[in-house]
Amino acid sequence: MNVNEAIIKRRSIRRFKNKEVPYIVLEKCIDAARVAPTGRNQQLCEYIVINDAKVLPGVFEHIGGSAKMPPDKGGPKPDQSPKAYIIVLINKTREEQFGRRNVTLVDIGLAAENIMLTAVAQGLGCCPILMFNEAEIKMILEIPDNYDIGLVITVGYPDESPVAEEAKDSVNVWVDDKGVRHVPKRKLADIIHHDKF
Ligand SMILES: Cc1cc2nc3c(=O)[nH]c(=O)nc-3n(C[C@H](O)[C@H](O)[C@H](O)COP(=O)(O)O)c2cc1C
Repeated sequence: MNVNEAIIKRRSIRRFKNKEVPYIVLEKCIDAARVAPTGRNQQLCEYIVINDAKVLPGVFEHIGGSAKMPPDKGGPKPDQSPKAYIIVLINKTREEQFGRRNVTLVDIGLAAENIMLTAVAQGLGCCPILMFNEAEIKMILEIPDNYDIGLVITVGYPDESPVAEEAKDSVNVWVDDKGVRHVPKRKLADIIHHDKF
Protein backbone atom coordinates (compact mmCIF):
# COMPACT_ATOMS: atom_id res chain seq x y z
CA MET A 1 0.00 0.00 0.00
CA ASN A 2 1.49 3.36 -0.94
CA VAL A 3 1.20 6.46 1.24
CA ASN A 4 -1.69 8.00 -0.68
CA GLU A 5 -3.66 4.75 -0.56
CA ALA A 6 -3.19 4.62 3.22
CA ILE A 7 -4.24 8.28 3.56
CA ILE A 8 -7.43 7.70 1.58
CA LYS A 9 -8.21 4.37 3.30
CA ARG A 10 -7.70 5.67 6.86
CA ARG A 11 -10.91 6.30 8.79
CA SER A 12 -11.37 6.56 12.52
CA ILE A 13 -12.33 3.08 13.69
CA ARG A 14 -14.38 2.47 16.85
CA ARG A 15 -15.29 -1.19 16.41
CA PHE A 16 -12.50 -3.74 16.43
CA LYS A 17 -12.24 -7.48 15.79
CA ASN A 18 -11.61 -9.67 18.79
CA LYS A 19 -8.02 -10.27 17.72
CA GLU A 20 -4.85 -9.43 19.60
CA VAL A 21 -2.51 -6.79 18.14
CA PRO A 22 1.08 -8.12 18.15
CA TYR A 23 3.67 -5.94 19.88
CA ILE A 24 5.88 -5.88 16.76
CA VAL A 25 3.09 -4.17 14.79
CA LEU A 26 2.77 -1.46 17.44
CA GLU A 27 6.52 -1.01 17.59
CA LYS A 28 6.55 -0.33 13.84
CA CYS A 29 3.98 2.45 14.42
CA ILE A 30 6.19 4.04 17.10
CA ASP A 31 9.20 3.77 14.81
CA ALA A 32 7.20 5.84 12.28
CA ALA A 33 6.42 8.41 15.00
CA ARG A 34 10.10 8.52 15.92
CA VAL A 35 11.07 10.00 12.56
CA ALA A 36 8.15 12.45 12.24
CA PRO A 37 8.98 16.14 11.94
CA THR A 38 9.28 17.94 15.30
CA GLY A 39 9.81 21.63 16.09
CA ARG A 40 13.57 22.33 16.17
CA ASN A 41 13.98 18.53 16.11
CA GLN A 42 13.40 18.48 19.89
CA GLN A 43 11.44 15.16 19.94
CA LEU A 44 9.55 15.83 23.18
CA CYS A 45 7.09 12.95 22.82
CA GLU A 46 7.37 9.45 24.22
CA TYR A 47 4.92 6.60 23.85
CA ILE A 48 3.33 3.83 25.90
CA VAL A 49 2.11 0.87 23.85
CA ILE A 50 -0.52 -1.31 25.46
CA ASN A 51 -1.72 -4.68 24.20
CA ASP A 52 -2.03 -6.57 27.49
CA ALA A 53 -5.63 -7.79 27.86
CA LYS A 54 -5.39 -7.10 31.60
CA VAL A 55 -4.54 -3.41 31.05
CA LEU A 56 -6.96 -2.62 28.16
CA PRO A 57 -10.26 -2.36 30.13
CA GLY A 58 -8.89 0.22 32.57
CA VAL A 59 -7.91 2.54 29.73
CA PHE A 60 -11.21 1.97 27.89
CA GLU A 61 -13.11 3.06 30.99
CA HIS A 62 -11.50 6.50 30.82
CA ILE A 63 -11.81 7.42 27.14
CA GLY A 64 -14.82 9.15 25.60
CA GLY A 65 -16.52 10.55 22.52
CA SER A 66 -17.89 8.40 19.71
CA ALA A 67 -15.48 5.64 20.74
CA LYS A 68 -17.80 5.03 23.72
CA MET A 69 -21.21 5.54 22.04
CA PRO A 70 -23.75 2.70 22.41
CA PRO A 71 -23.61 0.12 19.57
CA ASP A 72 -26.76 1.50 17.84
CA LYS A 73 -25.03 4.88 17.62
CA GLY A 74 -21.88 3.43 16.04
CA GLY A 75 -20.00 2.54 19.21
CA PRO A 76 -18.46 -0.85 20.01
CA LYS A 77 -20.25 -3.91 21.34
CA PRO A 78 -18.42 -5.21 24.44
CA ASP A 79 -16.09 -7.50 22.45
CA GLN A 80 -15.40 -4.77 19.84
CA SER A 81 -13.51 -2.44 22.18
CA PRO A 82 -9.91 -1.42 21.26
CA LYS A 83 -7.35 -4.24 21.35
CA ALA A 84 -4.38 -1.93 21.86
CA TYR A 85 -3.58 1.68 22.74
CA ILE A 86 -0.79 4.06 21.96
CA ILE A 87 -0.51 6.77 24.60
CA VAL A 88 1.35 9.85 23.34
CA LEU A 89 3.26 11.45 26.22
CA ILE A 90 4.75 14.92 26.47
CA ASN A 91 7.99 15.03 28.43
CA LYS A 92 7.38 18.29 30.34
CA THR A 93 10.92 18.48 31.70
CA ARG A 94 12.31 18.56 28.18
CA GLU A 95 9.47 20.82 26.99
CA GLU A 96 10.20 23.43 29.70
CA GLN A 97 13.85 23.48 28.63
CA PHE A 98 13.59 23.17 24.87
CA GLY A 99 10.01 23.62 23.70
CA ARG A 100 6.66 25.38 23.72
CA ARG A 101 3.28 23.74 24.11
CA ASN A 102 1.83 25.11 20.85
CA VAL A 103 4.78 23.54 19.00
CA THR A 104 4.40 20.27 20.90
CA LEU A 105 0.75 20.02 19.89
CA VAL A 106 1.75 20.22 16.22
CA ASP A 107 4.44 17.58 16.86
CA ILE A 108 1.77 15.30 18.33
CA GLY A 109 -0.51 15.70 15.31
CA LEU A 110 2.28 14.88 12.90
CA ALA A 111 3.45 11.87 14.95
CA ALA A 112 -0.13 10.62 15.29
CA GLU A 113 -0.71 10.65 11.54
CA ASN A 114 2.54 8.71 10.99
CA ILE A 115 1.33 6.20 13.58
CA MET A 116 -2.13 5.83 12.09
CA LEU A 117 -0.96 5.52 8.48
CA THR A 118 1.61 2.90 9.50
CA ALA A 119 -1.20 1.08 11.30
CA VAL A 120 -3.46 1.21 8.20
CA ALA A 121 -0.64 -0.16 6.03
CA GLN A 122 -0.46 -3.15 8.43
CA GLY A 123 -4.21 -3.83 8.23
CA LEU A 124 -5.07 -2.05 11.47
CA GLY A 125 -7.45 0.76 12.30
CA CYS A 126 -7.09 3.55 14.85
CA CYS A 127 -8.95 6.42 16.41
CA PRO A 128 -7.26 9.49 17.89
CA ILE A 129 -8.91 10.32 21.21
CA LEU A 130 -8.75 13.68 22.98
CA MET A 131 -11.64 12.98 25.32
CA PHE A 132 -9.98 11.06 28.12
CA ASN A 133 -9.57 11.32 31.86
CA GLU A 134 -5.91 12.18 32.11
CA ALA A 135 -5.61 11.84 35.90
CA GLU A 136 -7.13 8.34 35.90
CA ILE A 137 -5.08 7.07 32.95
CA LYS A 138 -1.90 8.52 34.46
CA MET A 139 -2.63 6.66 37.68
CA ILE A 140 -3.43 3.33 36.01
CA LEU A 141 -0.33 3.45 33.81
CA GLU A 142 1.95 4.87 36.54
CA ILE A 143 2.90 7.87 34.41
CA PRO A 144 5.18 10.27 36.34
CA ASP A 145 4.11 13.86 37.16
CA ASN A 146 6.55 15.39 34.71
CA TYR A 147 4.64 13.88 31.78
CA ASP A 148 1.31 14.99 30.26
CA ILE A 149 -0.80 12.78 28.04
CA GLY A 150 -1.06 14.52 24.66
CA LEU A 151 -3.25 11.99 22.88
CA VAL A 152 -4.65 8.48 23.23
CA ILE A 153 -4.80 6.40 20.04
CA THR A 154 -6.99 3.30 20.00
CA VAL A 155 -5.76 0.44 17.81
CA GLY A 156 -7.12 -2.86 16.52
CA TYR A 157 -8.21 -4.79 13.46
CA PRO A 158 -11.27 -2.95 12.03
CA ASP A 159 -14.69 -4.51 12.46
CA GLU A 160 -16.43 -1.71 10.57
CA SER A 161 -15.94 0.14 7.28
CA PRO A 162 -16.84 3.82 7.65
CA VAL A 163 -17.24 5.69 4.37
CA ALA A 164 -15.91 9.15 3.56
CA GLU A 165 -18.24 11.01 1.22
CA GLU A 166 -18.59 14.49 -0.19
CA ALA A 167 -20.12 16.88 2.34
CA LYS A 168 -23.36 18.50 1.23
CA ASP A 169 -25.08 20.71 3.85
CA SER A 170 -23.30 19.44 6.95
CA VAL A 171 -20.03 17.86 8.03
CA ASN A 172 -21.69 16.00 10.90
CA VAL A 173 -20.75 12.33 11.06
CA TRP A 174 -23.82 10.05 11.02
CA VAL A 175 -24.57 6.34 11.38
CA ASP A 176 -27.13 4.73 9.04
CA ASP A 177 -29.64 2.02 9.98
CA LYS A 178 -27.12 -0.69 9.01
CA GLY A 179 -24.65 0.76 11.52
CA VAL A 180 -22.34 2.19 8.82
CA ARG A 181 -20.63 5.45 9.81
CA HIS A 182 -20.70 8.20 7.16
CA VAL A 183 -17.97 10.83 7.33
CA PRO A 184 -18.67 13.91 5.16
CA LYS A 185 -15.51 15.59 3.88
CA ARG A 186 -15.54 19.09 2.38
CA LYS A 187 -14.83 19.03 -1.33
CA LEU A 188 -11.53 20.23 -2.73
CA ALA A 189 -13.02 23.28 -4.46
CA ASP A 190 -14.39 24.50 -1.11
CA ILE A 191 -11.09 24.45 0.75
CA ILE A 192 -8.46 25.38 -1.81
CA HIS A 193 -7.45 28.96 -2.69
CA HIS A 194 -5.28 29.63 -5.72
CA ASP A 195 -2.32 31.99 -5.32
CA LYS A 196 -4.34 34.37 -3.11
CA PHE A 197 -7.42 34.06 -0.87
C1 LIG B 1 -7.83 16.19 17.67
C2 LIG B 1 -8.81 15.05 17.53
C3 LIG B 1 -9.51 14.60 18.66
C4 LIG B 1 -10.42 13.55 18.53
N1 LIG B 1 -11.02 13.06 19.66
C5 LIG B 1 -11.89 12.03 19.55
C6 LIG B 1 -12.48 11.48 20.73
O1 LIG B 1 -12.24 11.92 21.86
N2 LIG B 1 -13.33 10.43 20.58
C7 LIG B 1 -13.61 9.90 19.36
O2 LIG B 1 -14.39 8.94 19.29
N3 LIG B 1 -13.05 10.40 18.21
C8 LIG B 1 -12.19 11.43 18.29
N4 LIG B 1 -11.58 11.93 17.16
C9 LIG B 1 -11.86 11.35 15.83
C10 LIG B 1 -12.74 12.27 14.99
O3 LIG B 1 -14.06 12.18 15.44
C11 LIG B 1 -12.61 11.85 13.51
O4 LIG B 1 -11.30 12.07 13.07
C12 LIG B 1 -13.59 12.61 12.62
O5 LIG B 1 -14.92 12.28 12.90
C13 LIG B 1 -13.33 12.37 11.13
O6 LIG B 1 -13.39 11.00 10.84
P1 LIG B 1 -12.17 10.25 10.13
O7 LIG B 1 -11.02 10.24 11.12
O8 LIG B 1 -12.68 8.88 9.82
O9 LIG B 1 -11.80 11.03 8.90
C14 LIG B 1 -10.67 12.97 17.26
C15 LIG B 1 -9.94 13.43 16.15
C16 LIG B 1 -9.02 14.44 16.27
C17 LIG B 1 -8.24 14.90 15.08
